Amino acid sequence: MEKYKWWQKAVFYQIYPHSFADGNGDGISDFPGMTAKLDYLQDLGIDGIWLSPHYPSPFYDCGYDVSDYTDVSPEYGTLADFKHFLDEAHQRNIRVILDMVLNHTSDQHQWFRESRSSRDNPKRDWYIWRDGKGEQGSLDGLPNNWDSTFGGSAWEYDSATGQYYYHFFFKEQPDLNWRNPEVIQAMWDAVRFWLDMGVDGFRLDAVSTVYEHPDLPDHPGQSMIELQQAYINAKTREEFDQQEKAWQALFQYQIDLPEVHNLMKDLRQLVDQYEDRVLVGETDDLRFYGSGDDELHLIFNFPLMQSDGPLTPTWIRDNQKSRLASLPPQAWPCNTLGNHDNSRVFSRFGEGSVELGLPEPHTNDASRARLSLALMLTLLGTPFLYNGEEIGMTDYYLNDPALFRDNTSTYAYPLLINLAGKSPEEALKMAAMFGRDKCRTPMQWSNAPNGGFCPADVTPWLPVNPNYAKGINVADQEKDPGSLLNFYKRMLRARRSTPALITGDYTPLHEKAENYLAFLRIAPQEGQKCLVVLNYSDQELEISFNLPAKQARLIFSSHTRRSQVESLNPLNLQPYEVFIMELT
Ligand code: NOJ
Ligand code: CA
Repeated sequence: MEKYKWWQKAVFYQIYPHSFADGNGDGISDFPGMTAKLDYLQDLGIDGIWLSPHYPSPFYDCGYDVSDYTDVSPEYGTLADFKHFLDEAHQRNIRVILDMVLNHTSDQHQWFRESRSSRDNPKRDWYIWRDGKGEQGSLDGLPNNWDSTFGGSAWEYDSATGQYYYHFFFKEQPDLNWRNPEVIQAMWDAVRFWLDMGVDGFRLDAVSTVYEHPDLPDHPGQSMIELQQAYINAKTREEFDQQEKAWQALFQYQIDLPEVHNLMKDLRQLVDQYEDRVLVGETDDLRFYGSGDDELHLIFNFPLMQSDGPLTPTWIRDNQKSRLASLPPQAWPCNTLGNHDNSRVFSRFGEGSVELGLPEPHTNDASRARLSLALMLTLLGTPFLYNGEEIGMTDYYLNDPALFRDNTSTYAYPLLINLAGKSPEEALKMAAMFGRDKCRTPMQWSNAPNGGFCPADVTPWLPVNPNYAKGINVADQEKDPGSLLNFYKRMLRARRSTPALITGDYTPLHEKAENYLAFLRIAPQEGQKCLVVLNYSDQELEISFNLPAKQARLIFSSHTRRSQVESLNPLNLQPYEVFIMELT
């Protein structure tokens, strides 16, 4: 185990800083609140925190629009409050990585204010400014036909200087011009600022979008509006697959430019000047591993979570097969099932896919949530969990467009009515479902009003999911030995004390089985071999394993079992059982 780095052994936990813990009772989480919950996180058994952006920001994209890279947003506290949080986390052997938003700043960042102030401002070229093609302001006038991934043209006309600026995301998030060495210098200074303070690394936001084609050629395919229309109407698998391809063609000159890999190599060299730091890319593109140790340390295995409905053993096995085979030598995998951009694990991988309408829990959702955690903690690679998933928080669809805080919903709502012809009720549901507020609601700490997140008489920044009153909260679950929270704690402890689950090779077994997943994790250096079996069905199973094992020791089961030798010929599994055994 010594030869492995801390980030290979760690389990990460993503904190969404607006929603985690409100220390001063203003309805927004903050560093004093988060610091007070470090004991909770230590007891939960995680090793690292990924903190979504904590920088000053007008919050147009919930913090992913940074207006100062070397400070803390006032609602979260001060730089000193952050430093205290970091030190207190380190005291508890919890590392902290920050979110670094490279592609764009906020339009309120001082750099952009200067850049837009005049054509000859020294920072003009820090962003991507172009003349229009035709008459200013007319659609034909746009520098090209590129779209913003959040909708509409990627170009915004700025009347003060008569040019357009480029934004891959919202127009409030102008793209930095990474072809300008001064930009690189300024951004690497920000990276050093936090590394010098002692942060343990970064999650790199939207890395594939950093560069765009310098000649700005038009893309030849359909526009985003046409694709959105087709998406709304798509029904069959083929139609969805076609869609997928068309979307890639749409952004072909805006993402994945090869230049980004040299930039990542530079960043890696910078980070390697510090001891033991880590870079995690928000991408599933394996090219970001470089040759295995010269670009990013970790790349998310997003394809695993992109199943259409509930995860199946076949889907997981296929994913592992292709993913692990494609990793460059020395590259370490990284798995996740949920984050602040996606449906919550409990809703998404429950029994029924979340259809339009309120995501109602199904009978076996809680069992499936246990399987999802077991999968994260037993597959080869570093797991990332998302705050609230440990108590089974579910997606919460806002029932009033005025409550939307994610501007992707605000933007979509009128378009669904005016362009797609949906009724206001349908549009509301669709905008709530496509948007991301649903998975960002405040952490549910107890069954007190507002889920104990903030005082009863305070309106939290997003409504608390009312299911806090039905046992979906930390305090109630801490008292219940059978709760999901206690399951998380038990499994995290089991992983920590079982080296093969952390570093062992992954060998699939019974590769045709449709209702269960079985694999070995073998760590020869540790002299340890584990069998993991996850029953994805609501049936009892009897499975025979022809494994040469003199002795077997039960390491973990989600069900009650004798702790001594269990027979593997056959092994009987309860419905949805998580079963882990050491073979010697
Ligand atoms: C990815 C982030 O996870 C998402 O929340 C954000 O909107 C975009 N990048 C733009 O920064
Ligand atoms: Ca607060």
